[in-house]
Parts: sequence; structure tokens; C-alpha cells
Amino acid sequence: MRQSTLHQLKVFETVARLTSITRAAEELSLTQPTVSMQIKQLTQNIGVPLFEQIGKKLYLTPSGQELFLTCQDIFDRLSRFEMKIADFQGLKQGKLKLSTITTTKYFIPRALAPFCQLYPGIEVALEITNHERVFERLSANLDDLYIISKIPERMDVALHPFLENPLVVVAPKNHPLAGEKNIPISKLQDEPFIMRERGSGTRDAVEQLLNKHNISVKVRLELGGNEAIKQAIGVGFGISVLSQHTVTPDAMSELTILDVEHFPIERHWYIVYPADKQLSILASTFFDFLQQESHEIASKMRGKIS
Ligand code: PGA
Repeated sequence: MRQSTLHQLKVFETVARLTSITRAAEELSLTQPTVSMQIKQLTQNIGVPLFEQIGKKLYLTPSGQELFLTCQDIFDRLSRFEMKIADFQGLKQGKLKLSTITTTKYFIPRALAPFCQLYPGIEVALEITNHERVFERLSANLDDLYIISKIPERMDVALHPFLENPLVVVAPKNHPLAGEKNIPISKLQDEPFIMRERGSGTRDAVEQLLNKHNISVKVRLELGGNEAIKQAIGVGFGISVLSQHTVTPDAMSELTILDVEHFPIERHWYIVYPADKQLSILASTFFDFLQQESHEIASKMRGKIS
């Protein structure tokens, strides 16, 4: 039996259903001798007769009847499997795994909500963390897509910019420099500074700019997240540099953005994946969705912010 092929079973199922070799040959677009040969080989493999011929009519033997039921079961299961695959491809189910940097925390849920409404059967796993960790996940190929702001140095990736991600100087609302225009960057040296943790892309960008202009700031506090930094600025620990995306309307009741020369630091968010990765249908659909919808989602957010 195990030497029988799926093709032989299909031929048998058709002959048994139509009780006719001629009609089975027609349905399967095979010649009659081919159909007869397949049935003969299957009968030999099984070792018992499957049909008996009485006059011109073909009848199933009890063993043939049993095999017919088994075949229906097999083909029914196979077609359900095919439908499942079609469902995956039709985005009715499946899992989307994303790893994104901290500043997307406000944007990404606003992008995922309408996407999940379009494809309600899908599941999303979202990891929001700093650049160093996102890079680790990227090099271990743990997720489908990644959002970053810093271009990875030693990785071969496909990289697509999709939104601006400027860095601005943030201070408490009542800061003496609030409202001043084009404040010299050297003034940052006089201010207690709050810095992101090592591994943060924001920190790297700030350090690069300060080094370029030979500015050294007095770091009073090092903190591992944008929220904590906003709190610390609000209670007077010092000033910091944050992505404009993190300066949300509620934060603006306590904070202000200082107009310092060389700021904002112009950066982008990029959607990234390993260059040789074959994206799933779900991942590439989300990729296209982000490219098409991100400006509108961001401007709606800004609408809420102002
Ligand atoms: P970070 O990235 O969390 O690594 O600082 C944020 C950003 O660069 O926008």
C-alpha cells in the first residue's frame, strides 16, 4: 500500500465515484489504458481486488469501498490544507513580528490599528526597544520587519526611509532660554544634561553632533527611556535631546523645545529587513501599508498634538 502514489489514489477515487473507467479517464484527461494500468498497480500493491465487473457494470468490493472512504478522507484533508495555505496568502491569518526603536512607541500602535482592522485574523508581536537591541534581533533574524533610525554598519539590509525623525532640544517650560531664537550650541555646555543609555541611537546622534562642534555637556543623569527623561526634565533635572515624536501634547504642558543652532538633527525612520530575506505576504503587505499610509497617520497624530 505504501508504494502507492497519491496519483494512483486519485485515479482510484475517480473511477470508484463514477463507477466507470471511461468517464474517469475523461475527467482526469488520461487515456483509458493509463487509468486501467494505475488501478491494476494499486490492486497489486494492496493485494486484494478493489472492483468486480458484472456484465458491463463496475462494482466496488468491500475492500474497494473501504479504500474509497479512506481516499475521500485524504482528499478532503488535503483540500482543507490547501484552503489554509490560501488563507495565509489571503492574509486571513498569520503572525507579523516587528521590532522597532523606542521613538515609534506613539506611532506604531496608530499604524497597526487600521492595519489589523483590514486583516482581523492576524496576530502581531511587537518589540519596542533601543537600537542596540533591535540590531541584535535583526542580525539573529528574529522578526519580519524592523524600524530603525541609524543605518547598521556591518549588516547587509534592505533599507527604506518612510518618515522624518528629527531630534530636538527639550527643556522645562519655564527655562530661561525658552522662546529665544537660534541659541548658540555652546550654551548647552552650561546646562545639566540628561542622556539616554548606551546602545541608544538617540544618544549616538547627540554625541556625534556635540563632538563635531567640540561641545562637552555635563551629564547629570543617564536614563534608559524617553518617558523617564521627559519626567526628569519636567521636575527640573536638566535638559535633553529627544525625538520630536516623543514630545506629545500632554508632555508640552510641562516642556518646551529650545531653538538651538544645528538642531533639529535631521534623521529618518527606516523600515529594514535582511537583504536576502524573503518577506512573508503579511510582512510585505504591512511594508506597503507603512509606505503608503505613514504620512497620513503622522499628520493625524500631529493634528491631535497641536
Ligand atoms: P533609540 O532610538 O531608542 O535607540 O534611541 C530612537 C531613535 O533613534 O529615534
